[in-house]
Amino acid sequence: MQVEVPGIQANVPGVHPAWLPPDAFRAAGTRRVLVLADDSEVAGTVRAEVADACERHGGAVVAPGAAGDLVLALSTAGDLPPAVQASRGQEPGPEGFVLGRRDGVTVVLADHPAGLLYGWFEVVRRGAAAFGEDWPAEVHRPALRRRMLDHWDNIDVHPVMGQVERGYSGGSIFWRDGVPHEDLTRVRAYGRLLAATGVNAVAINNVNVHATEARLLTDRLAEVAAIAAELRPYGIRVHLSVNFASPIALGGLDSADPLDEGVRAWWARTTERVYETIPDFGGYVVKADSEGQPGPFAYGRSHADGANMLADALAPHGGVVHWRAFVYDHRQDWRDRSTDRARAAHDHFAPLDGLFRDNAILQVKYGPMDFQPREPISPVIAAMPATRLAVELQVTQEYTGQQRHVCYLGPMWSEVLGFRFWGPGERTVAEVAARGGLVAVSNVGDDPYWTGHPLAQANLYAFGRLAWAPDLDPAAILDEWIGLTFPGGDDLVRGTLHEIMDGSWATYERYTAPLGVGFMVRPGHHYGPDVDGYEYTPWGTYHFADRDGVGVDRTRATGTGYTGQYPAPWSEVYESRSECPDELLLFFHHVPYQHVLQSGTTVIQHIYDTHFAGAEEAAGMRLAWEKLAGSVDPALYARVRERLDEQVRCAEEWRDQVNTYFLRKSGVPDAHGRRIY
Ligand code: GCU
Repeated sequence: MQVEVPGIQANVPGVHPAWLPPDAFRAAGTRRVLVLADDSEVAGTVRAEVADACERHGGAVVAPGAAGDLVLALSTAGDLPPAVQASRGQEPGPEGFVLGRRDGVTVVLADHPAGLLYGWFEVVRRGAAAFGEDWPAEVHRPALRRRMLDHWDNIDVHPVMGQVERGYSGGSIFWRDGVPHEDLTRVRAYGRLLAATGVNAVAINNVNVHATEARLLTDRLAEVAAIAAELRPYGIRVHLSVNFASPIALGGLDSADPLDEGVRAWWARTTERVYETIPDFGGYVVKADSEGQPGPFAYGRSHADGANMLADALAPHGGVVHWRAFVYDHRQDWRDRSTDRARAAHDHFAPLDGLFRDNAILQVKYGPMDFQPREPISPVIAAMPATRLAVELQVTQEYTGQQRHVCYLGPMWSEVLGFRFWGPGERTVAEVAARGGLVAVSNVGDDPYWTGHPLAQANLYAFGRLAWAPDLDPAAILDEWIGLTFPGGDDLVRGTLHEIMDGSWATYERYTAPLGVGFMVRPGHHYGPDVDGYEYTPWGTYHFADRDGVGVDRTRATGTGYTGQYPAPWSEVYESRSECPDELLLFFHHVPYQHVLQSGTTVIQHIYDTHFAGAEEAAGMRLAWEKLAGSVDPALYARVRERLDEQVRCAEEWRDQVNTYFLRKSGVPDAHGRRIY
């Protein structure tokens, strides 16, 4: 049954409700709910949400003065009931909230409407537990200031990349056939899903800004405004990827030099017009001097010059520029052993620390290469204490199975965010990025399940939750997601999903490139194995396997010196063959096949063992899923089942190509005599 409450799109017909099916609101929707808020748009959303949940589940929205057993109140609202008093004086901040239960009344108290919205979704997430025993007021504040998804959506279908670059979920939810979707209710529903996880910003177009998409900044701005209008009620601000050469391409100038007064004036004027149309516009995202995109190097200027020009244009309006640190030479000569792509971002950006404006945020991929299933954490994050940094993750599974493989990335991101550059007890990556934020490339498209693989929804959910609270346990996040997405699911559903998903990243790592060496994927589309696919290309992603050994020597002693970009203790740990963690050994060292790992096995035997184990685990996932036939929706069951067939096939292909390759290179047989081709 579709209940119509103006302002909210609880479910889009024909589209899976993801983690917000009507049943997820049962506990909250049976209450007597009092909302004390202002007349802002976001507060209106909270009222509409509450009304919708109550209408579905038999609760009631009560008037001020009446007794409620759930109160959602802004601290600025007059006449707060006595139950709320105990929650006062905690300063939850612009997006936080205070949540407690006293004398049988659950209270959400916030200073601003966004906090009320996030508090409401926290109550929903807790379900019946939000209405049990009393508990003292707790303060919830997001750990990272901006929690942002970057869409790599194109308006036109790109001849190579398709409509969504690295998209595995169909077309764009914003555009189709070169124009915006006529009906943007799906965008509203997306905003609602994101708000329920704590996301507060979305960049709507590809960082590779082609000719059509560049015009979103000027004559196609109305399309951006329409999308912003759908996301605004859920507290989400819209950002735009812009092309650095826009003054030439759109403004008819003959230069894009960031120090040229005419260029600066063009950006100031253009940005002013953006804010006239979209007063709460978030800002720009820029990929410059990277993989063919234009940038300040063409004018002999630095990336600080480039970023600051845009920061200055945005500053009067409260906007920010996300300037990406993904800058490297993608036309290097594989014969040249002195160039190391891993070094590039630090070499370019560390010397610029302190030169960026406060509203310029340097957006750094979590690893020094490119979203591999295993990389060390980018040393840029440790090298720029006087710069606002955002860490960039990839929810879209470009290198982790392209949403045909189950690969729950919560555990990886949790490791990234909890990494301590300066050793135990020192600051974590999440703490370093607190003033900047956490950004991820979205995995969403117009697919009925949003994410192609229904279980890939969990990655989107986990991203938002970790951006809000990086120290949450990824298995607990998964548990929340299961509870919301499969309401009423019994122990079999819950247990089986954990069995399949908890360790799925580790499984993926086992059957793909070994010990942190990375890539070994088919060039171009990046799916499936091709051990030497990138070995003799200009892309800088090599493994250097020969008959004696494998891996990249990035030491200071004999290699590229990359280990020197880390502070102690990691500069020493990574430099040392014996101390370097096994899972990163081949990222940092070129070692003989008979080198003994900390685990006690040799490198070559580890390669064989993990590849046999990984493919076997993939087969185990498929078997486990079969237990759920009849327990989950049949269409969803079939979709996952079909993808698991592909995962099993592909994992075997990885196993056989990697094992065969290394058997032929090394001549060392498998200690267990298993079949290698
Ligand atoms: C990867 C990806 C590209 C993308 C790039 C980026 O290299 O394959 O499609 O444009 O990252 O992050 O800019």
